[in-house]
Amino acid sequence: MATIKVENLRKKYPNGFVAVHDINLEIEDQEFMVLVGPSGCAKSTTLKMVAGLEDISSGSIYIDGKKVNDLRPKDRDIAMVFQSYALYPHMTVKENISFGLKMRKHPVEEIEKRVAHASEMLGIKELLDRKPRQLSGGQRQRVALGRAVVRKPKVFLFDEPLSNLDAKLRVQMRSEIKKLHERLEATIIYVTHDQIEAMTMGSRIVLMKEGHIQQVGPPMELYNHPVSRFVAGFIGSPAMNFLDCRVEEDNGTFSIATNDFKLPLQDYQAEKVKDKIGEPLTFGIRPEDIRKKRNKKELYTEGFLKGSIEVVEPIGKEIGIEVSTGQDSFSAIVNSNAEVTAHEEIELVLNMDKIHLFEKEGNESALF
Ligand SMILES: Nc1ncnc2c1ncn2[C@@H]1O[C@H](COP(=O)(O)OP(=O)(O)OP(=O)(O)O)[C@@H](O)[C@H]1O
Ligand SMILES: [Mg+2]
Repeated sequence: MATIKVENLRKKYPNGFVAVHDINLEIEDQEFMVLVGPSGCAKSTTLKMVAGLEDISSGSIYIDGKKVNDLRPKDRDIAMVFQSYALYPHMTVKENISFGLKMRKHPVEEIEKRVAHASEMLGIKELLDRKPRQLSGGQRQRVALGRAVVRKPKVFLFDEPLSNLDAKLRVQMRSEIKKLHERLEATIIYVTHDQIEAMTMGSRIVLMKEGHIQQVGPPMELYNHPVSRFVAGFIGSPAMNFLDCRVEEDNGTFSIATNDFKLPLQDYQAEKVKDKIGEPLTFGIRPEDIRKKRNKKELYTEGFLKGSIEVVEPIGKEIGIEVSTGQDSFSAIVNSNAEVTAHEEIELVLNMDKIHLFEKEGNESALF
């Protein structure tokens, strides 16, 4: 069992800079929580406070209901894997991995078993007798993972543990860590600035910006229902399109008008913006919610646009295109068998159930 609760947690560094602004967060037992956000948003600072490696300025941290504010890192039953792996240079890989267990006086047989198991899983069995300086960055990172895994702590804290791996190994390690999570039944807080990693690994995601939490929820909730333009722009790849727009009303029919086009809103959408008529707002739609018009009859919930293709980027199973409608331009993803050529005219269909509208003021909150 390990729940983690963070209450009004604040970090003011000695130079006066407030990195974390009174954040609140509850992590359930055995949850895989991912902290994500742009560089400098205070992911590492937050994680280090949970680990006990950084002082708390105010607020509290509870592990399993027990306040750990004044508990030393080694007494928190936590294993942390950093981006910089901090291996002991004079020890072999095997000694590095087993060091924590030896210190805790585990029986030799048990240590052997755990090291063998971890090194097998991490693909470093052949490296056990080497010293860290004889390893590549990615190999060192895996040794650091191994050192954490063998301890079987209640809580794992990972700070960008895959950043030095190549793309293929990264994807492989991603699923290894997920499997590991199931097997170890541990609670995990995993820090990354990579939204794909966050989406694929997290049972829930905490998206941070400048020391504030923007949204907490399962990956698809952040993807489908971002609370603000920032969340909408951060989650999803390629990123959501944003265009300036206004809401217009004509005889009880509501629509959104951008520089170049006007799209009718559905009743449930109109209901949410009927007091926003004429205000400058931001219209958002994801590239994957736009497609090339087929000749068949289209559904009435879809919006139609004409534009000219500026850029064509084949990705493999699909094709990314940049389309200009005059003053506005946006990206779309079309099926790889759709015939698209640069500088050609194209008719597009927008899935109007998937459009978003954001305020321009303040936190740029989502209206829907
Ligand atoms: N010792 C320090 N003194 C003052 N400010 C600091 C200190 N350490 C970090 N900061 C600042 O606190 C903020 C958060 O830093 P932190 O390392 O937690 O960010 P991060 O989200 O982990 O970023 P990255 O993705 O680049 O690792 C940054 O603006 C950073 O400059
Ligand atoms: Mg960091």
